[in-house]
Amino acid sequence: MPRVRLLLSALALAGSVAGAEAPPVKVATCQACHGAAGVSVAPDIPNLAGQRATYLARQLEAFKAGTRKNDLMAAMAAQLSPDDIKALSAYWSSLPPAPADAGATAPHAATVSAMALPKDFPQAYVEYKREQDETNKTLTLRYANKLALDAARAGKPLPEGSILLTVNYTPQIGADGRWTPGAVKNYVGMETRAGWGDAIPPLLRNGNWNYGVWSSDGTPRLALQQPRCLACHQPKAADSYVFTLAALRQPATH
Ligand code: HEC
Ligand code: HEC
Repeated sequence: MPRVRLLLSALALAGSVAGAEAPPVKVATCQACHGAAGVSVAPDIPNLAGQRATYLARQLEAFKAGTRKNDLMAAMAAQLSPDDIKALSAYWSSLPPAPADAGATAPHAATVSAMALPKDFPQAYVEYKREQDETNKTLTLRYANKLALDAARAGKPLPEGSILLTVNYTPQIGADGRWTPGAVKNYVGMETRAGWGDAIPPLLRNGNWNYGVWSSDGTPRLALQQPRCLACHQPKAADSYVFTLAALRQPATH
C-alpha cells in the first residue's frame, strides 16, 4: 500500500524534524558560502561547524564593527542583531566539525542563476561607462538595456527586465595611444526578473537580481560564485543593487 507507506514516512520525517533543535532562520544564508553543514568547499571560506561559539560571535561582531575586514562578511554581519549573532554562533558551534558526506548536498538556492547571456547584445544596449586598466591590460565597457537606462535617467528604481552587462576587452592601442575595444575577454552581468529572488535567503537577496559570468565564446563561468556577487552588491540596495548607478543616470559619450 504505497499511500500508507508515504504517510508513515511523512510522519517519521515530521518526528525527526521536531526532535532536532531547529536551526535559526538566517542559517540558510550562511549555508550559501559556508556549506550546508558548515564545512566549506571554497579555499578562502573557513568552516563554521564545531568552532567555539564565543570565537564565532567575536568574529561576527568584528565584521560588523569593521575591525575585521571582508566585503562579503561585512555585508552579512551588518544585517545581524546581537540575538542573531548569539543564535547563529551557538548553532554552528553545535555541529560536528567534519560530516561524513560533506560532498553529497544539493546545490544551494543562492548559487542558482536564471540569467543567460543576452541574445540581443550588443544591438539593444547602450554603453554608459568605460574604464581602462593599465595593470591588467583590460578595457571595460559597461552596457545597459534601454529599460534600465530610461528608468535610471528618470531617477526611478530599475524595473524588472533591467539588464546590465559589463564586457572586458583586450584593448587595441592606436598610434596615438588611444584604447579601443579588441577581442572580448569575458562578460559579467546582472538581470532582474519577477520571481528570480524568491528562493534566495533574505540576507543575500538582491530584490530579484540574478548574476552571470561568461567566457568570450558565451560559455557560462559563474559556477558557485553567485552568493559572493549577491553579498557584495547587497549593501547597494538603495541604488537598485547597482554600484555604477550615477554613471547610468548620466551616460558618458564616446
Ligand atoms: C557570500 C559568502 C558568505 C556568506 C553568505 C557568509 N559568509 Fe561567513 N565568511 C565568508 C568569507 C569569504 C569568510 C572569510 C573572511 C576572511 O577572510 O576574513 C567568512 C568568515 C566567517 C567567519 C569567521 C570564521 C573564522 O574562522 O574566523 C564567521 C564566524 C562567519 N563567516 C559567519 C557567517 C555566518 C554566521 C553567516 C550567515 C549569517 C555567513 N558567515 C555568511 C563568506 C560568507
Ligand atoms: C567584493 C565586492 C564585489 C563582488 C564580490 C562582486 N562585485 Fe560586482 N561590482 C562591485 C563594484 C565595487 C562594482 C563597481 C565597479 C566600478 O565602479 O568600477 C561592481 C559592478 C558590477 C557590475 C556593473 C553594474 C554595477 O553594479 O555597477 C556588474 C554587472 C557586476 N558588478 C556583476 C557582478 C557579478 C556577476 C559578480 C559575481 C561573479 C560580482 N559582481 C561580484 C563589487 C563586487
